Amino acid sequence: MQTLLVTGGAGFIGCNFVRYLLQKYSDVRVVVYDKLTYAGRLENLADVAEQFAGRYQFVQGDICDAGRVEETIRTHGIDTIVNFAAETHVDRSILDPDAFIQTDVYGTYVLLEAARKLGNLRYHQISTDEVYGHIHGGHRSLESDNVAPRSPYAASKASADHFVSAYHITYGLPVTISRGANNIGPYQYPEKAVPLFVTNALSDLPLPVYGDGRQMRDYQYVTDHCEGIDLVLRNGVIGEVYNIGTGAEMTNLEMVEILLDELGKPRTLIQHVEDRLGHDRRYCMDVSKLMALGWEPDYNHEEAIRATVRWYLENRRWWEPIRNGEFKQYYQKLYGNRKVLAMPPEAEYTNANN
Ligand code: NAD
Ligand code: DAU
Repeated sequence: MQTLLVTGGAGFIGCNFVRYLLQKYSDVRVVVYDKLTYAGRLENLADVAEQFAGRYQFVQGDICDAGRVEETIRTHGIDTIVNFAAETHVDRSILDPDAFIQTDVYGTYVLLEAARKLGNLRYHQISTDEVYGHIHGGHRSLESDNVAPRSPYAASKASADHFVSAYHITYGLPVTISRGANNIGPYQYPEKAVPLFVTNALSDLPLPVYGDGRQMRDYQYVTDHCEGIDLVLRNGVIGEVYNIGTGAEMTNLEMVEILLDELGKPRTLIQHVEDRLGHDRRYCMDVSKLMALGWEPDYNHEEAIRATVRWYLENRRWWEPIRNGEFKQYYQKLYGNRKVLAMPPEAEYTNANN
């Protein structure tokens, strides 16, 4: 029986991945290792703990804590590590990059070192399209493109990718890396744009759209991403990188309009506000390498956005306590004094990669 250590498994994508794996395979055991930061919640896995009690365990721990990581790997007979654990919100990385460097860079090194020392374990790194930087219209990022991160978050993820590749080249560690586009779906902490906008709209609060709102993103449904990760884990070539996204793109304003339509809320809730510092204008990846492994997405952008909106409508009991907790201070700090733009300027589009 394969035994996976899923770090960061109590967060948004991690909990969806654990649910996906345990439902799909009866010969897989999962140990979730998670620090339970503001973004990690045990209740995200409550149904999993009940349904898969014999094949699922939870360990609270920090990936920067080498002793605890190694003890967990030994105690549970781990043969595969899938690393989701990270600080993940770009705006928080702009406010304070420190935790991003600790967890995303140093934490990844600790996991790689443990994997190397304890028997050259199979290692998969969850990375992001943000490592490519923002991309000029027409081009789609290829796995062979240079990375050119532009936010502290993206820089920390790109550094981690370099370490993962270095451990493969130097020590022969059997690694793969997947770079995902913007995920949406159940259990996403409401600091991220889609759940923030849905939950604001449900309270008739303005939706703070950064700048002109014409930034391009590839909004993919989280289960499509999970399926892609599973495929890379099983059939990916060791040492290789795989992009995971729909391969399509839409503007943030288009995303907001679909979201408001699904909620039956007016567009007057849209409020253009001062832009994010260093805001990446466009991400778009070529996903043909993953498709060649036999993957294709089940959801297009519109279906993904509508399904996500419905989940938040049906799961107020999940997000209302979050919005009433630490989130309030965070929201005030980030948006409290943010300038509202009467006429959003044409955003500048400089230093684009590739
Ligand atoms: P999230 O913020 O919802 O969850 C992160 C999880 O990591 C939380 O459970 C948190 O408690 C845990 N964690 C944080 N620091 C830790 C530490 N030091 N030790 C142990 N656990 C720690 O994040 P997410 O959106 O689910 O993202 C998961 C991974 O996917 C990240 O690596 C992220 O960079 C990557 N990714 C995210 C997206 C996206 O759109 N959300 C897209 C592509 C890639
Ligand atoms: O692309 C993958 C990345 O997607 C992941 O690696 C990150 O972990 C994840 O946070 C996400 O990053 P983004 O910065 O793209 O996602 P976010 O949801 O924060 O923002 C999506 C877009 O919406 C982006 O162009 C910024 C914009 N935005 C965001 C917020 C929070 C707004 O206009 N207003 C907002 O209040």
